[in-house]
Amino acid sequence: MLTVTQTDFNGIDSLTYREQPTPKLPANGVQLAMTTWPVVPSDWHRESQPDATAEQLAILPRIIGVGGVGEITAVGTQRDAHLCHQRALVMHPNGSYAETIISTNPDWLFPLPATVSDADAAALTAGPGTATVLRAAILANPTDNVVITGANAVIGLFLQQLLPTSDRHIYPIVSPASRAYFQQVQPHTPAYTLAELPHLTGTTLIIDIAGASGLLQELISRCQPEKIVSIALQNFPTTVPFEFVHEDFNPVQMRTFIQAVATGRLQVPLDRTFPFTAVKAAQHYAQDHHSRGRVLVTKTKGSY
Ligand SMILES: NC(=O)c1ccc[n+]([C@@H]2O[C@H](COP(=O)([O-])OP(=O)(O)OC[C@H]3O[C@@H](n4cnc5c(N)ncnc54)[C@H](OP(=O)(O)O)[C@@H]3O)[C@@H](O)[C@H]2O)c1
Repeated sequence: MLTVTQTDFNGIDSLTYREQPTPKLPANGVQLAMTTWPVVPSDWHRESQPDATAEQLAILPRIIGVGGVGEITAVGTQRDAHLCHQRALVMHPNGSYAETIISTNPDWLFPLPATVSDADAAALTAGPGTATVLRAAILANPTDNVVITGANAVIGLFLQQLLPTSDRHIYPIVSPASRAYFQQVQPHTPAYTLAELPHLTGTTLIIDIAGASGLLQELISRCQPEKIVSIALQNFPTTVPFEFVHEDFNPVQMRTFIQAVATGRLQVPLDRTFPFTAVKAAQHYAQDHHSRGRVLVTKTKGSY
């Protein structure tokens, strides 16, 4: 089977396509023929920074990716035979960018309803779960104002949909280049560039999705926030209370997101799709362009 493998920390262009033996199907496993993978910022972070992530992901070589969507093509004797031929989202932290995946953890396998596309499902990894963590941070910090950087990010757009209606003032911050896009997908939510942000009175929480130090410094001097909660910066030199938060994968929550997509209650922001043979181009595109939804990599049957 073909895999996308990281062998060093020299960045995107050092990725290699490697043929590896297809793993044997154990009794407790299911085999998936993968079709769709998300392209997320942590991909290129991990490909250039040994300390960007958890220790085991710094051991090379490794197959990149932590999740994706595929069709279940074989089922081990200890698993439900009805799973066979179903499409499923699979979380696979050991490396998901492989033609075939053997999944042995039932909690990381999510059969998909017909109304949820492979693309939408793939984009649920590193998306609404992280937005839910930010939603919890907003609820736990009852300030008058909430300023959100990177509001047009994939996670920013999920967060907008998950925010409860309240009388708090929400200020989504976007770059001038992303303003029109944000208003197109969130027509009823006013967005602000840094220059447009009004003088804020009362207490302020900054939710940081962009991870841009200069932007944060500017917001601190203008808003005197009570606290900053970031998903993008693990550390930030400031006297303002600063907290890095991260998603702990929750299978119950993932089933809820899949149902919300199936019933149209959750919209998934999607951008371009690249073929499996163009993973480097896909990552460069996502890294070099303003966020316009999740970039995906796909493979159709027999496309190798
Ligand atoms: N802690 C966790 O558990 C966790 C989980 C998943 C992801 N993350 C992190 O969360 C962040 C967002 O992820 P995502 O997938 O939503 O990313 P994304 O869709 O690529 O969006 C990135 C956002 O950052 C903004 N941005 C980037 N550089 C900027 C700069 N210099 N000034 C102003 N804005 C800037 C972009 O604005 P434009 O589009 O206008 O350029 C965009 O809104 C990433 O850093 C990712 O690594 C953390």
